[in-house]
Amino acid sequence: MQTNKRKLAIVGTGHRGAGTWGRDAPATCADDVELVGLCDTNSARLAVTRDRLGAADAVASTDLDEMLDRAKPHTLVVCTRDDTHADIIVKALESGIDVVTEKPMATTAEACRRILDAERRTGRHVDVAFNYRFAPTSRKIRELLAEGRIGKVSSVDFHWYLDTRHGADYFRRWHAYKKNSGSLFVHKSTHHFDLLNWFIDSDPVRVFAQGSLRRYGRAGEFRGTRCKGCPHADRCEFHLDISKDPWLHALYEAPSAEDGYVRDACVFREDIDIYDTMTAELLYENGVEVSYSLNAFMPIEGYHLAFNGTKGRIEVRMYEKQAFDAPVGEDEILILGTDRSVERIKVSHGPGGHFGGDPLLHKNLFVPEADDPMNQRAGARAGAMSVLTGVAATRSAETGQPVDVLPLLEAG
Ligand SMILES: NC(=O)c1ccc[n+]([C@@H]2O[C@H](COP(=O)([O-])OP(=O)(O)OC[C@H]3O[C@@H](n4cnc5c(N)ncnc54)[C@H](O)[C@@H]3O)[C@@H](O)[C@H]2O)c1
Repeated sequence: MQTNKRKLAIVGTGHRGAGTWGRDAPATCADDVELVGLCDTNSARLAVTRDRLGAADAVASTDLDEMLDRAKPHTLVVCTRDDTHADIIVKALESGIDVVTEKPMATTAEACRRILDAERRTGRHVDVAFNYRFAPTSRKIRELLAEGRIGKVSSVDFHWYLDTRHGADYFRRWHAYKKNSGSLFVHKSTHHFDLLNWFIDSDPVRVFAQGSLRRYGRAGEFRGTRCKGCPHADRCEFHLDISKDPWLHALYEAPSAEDGYVRDACVFREDIDIYDTMTAELLYENGVEVSYSLNAFMPIEGYHLAFNGTKGRIEVRMYEKQAFDAPVGEDEILILGTDRSVERIKVSHGPGGHFGGDPLLHKNLFVPEADDPMNQRAGARAGAMSVLTGVAATRSAETGQPVDVLPLLEAG
């Protein structure tokens, strides 16, 4: 039957593709979106996801060209491993298909330039799924800054903490290698650098960064190959038994026989080359200075964020997971004036993933009449700028030298 709905296809039917995009986006935007195609190089994972989504009518193929040809989507959602995004995005654009890509848009400067070039050449459009922009607290912060509540911003303190459960997950899988993820400065910090770029409303020009591996990889005292059957299971604080999670088990365990991609690889593998401890100093074109850090084995999960301005300071402490009592389902923003005034604003999280960010992102992307007064929708340039900040940070950590960001947009 012919409908006016936007035809969506998904490439990469792992956790994110199956959940946020395959299950949630069509449910949130039921009047505006229909799922017409699924592609994954792993045929077993493709079948598990198709079955779970009840998407028997959607075209499913391990061959992207074939899926696009038969499903004829308007939009391709890219949910594959980070380093594969660029080739897939360019292919879709050249086939006349718009793209929504998971973050990071790409993992290298060259790949970002290729995507920007393809977008210009083809006239098609790339959106980057920066769901953190849509979290109610992020939006409130952006509003307060735009209203000039603390005058002109001079500097920002931004410190993000991943606890041992969430943080360890990046060391179990493909993310653990720079060639796949660009390092956590790209894979994870792309969210944070994008928020900074959006909040500060300027481009980062220079980054000086440091990174080290203190807890995972070769820093571990013992190691196996994977958690399943590991002789160290009883004494390893990172031991993961995916058989206890039927969905994770179905999505990864049997499919691993096809390509060797296991969900529970040892976090202490000696060849892991990303950092778990990262700091960076950033300078923006408009003069704002930023002090940033990301730590991946903390007893807490969440962030500390503060904007220092000529008339005051905005402070946010985001509590996500911790062993002590803290606000649940809401954040508190403090607006502190240099005149000693204090204002407290409570912001409730919304329903759905990422504090309500995921469903609001879906509506922004797919509901035709959705407005965007805060410029939350992020295109390929925003995607590139946050990746390039991470690429510059990684290069700086490797060389010990500061790295200029903007030339990476142009350089060969
Ligand atoms: N926005 C967010 O908050 C958020 C959260 C989680 C993941 N992500 C992003 O989503 C993407 C997927 O993450 P995930 O955790 O679902 O990973 P995953 O490993 O579970 O799934 C990736 C899938 O892509 C498939 N694949 C890899 N290369 C492919 C190719 N060339 N063609 C077709 N299929 C291919 C794999 O077989 C796998 O099934 C990543 O880019 C990640 O950064 C974003």
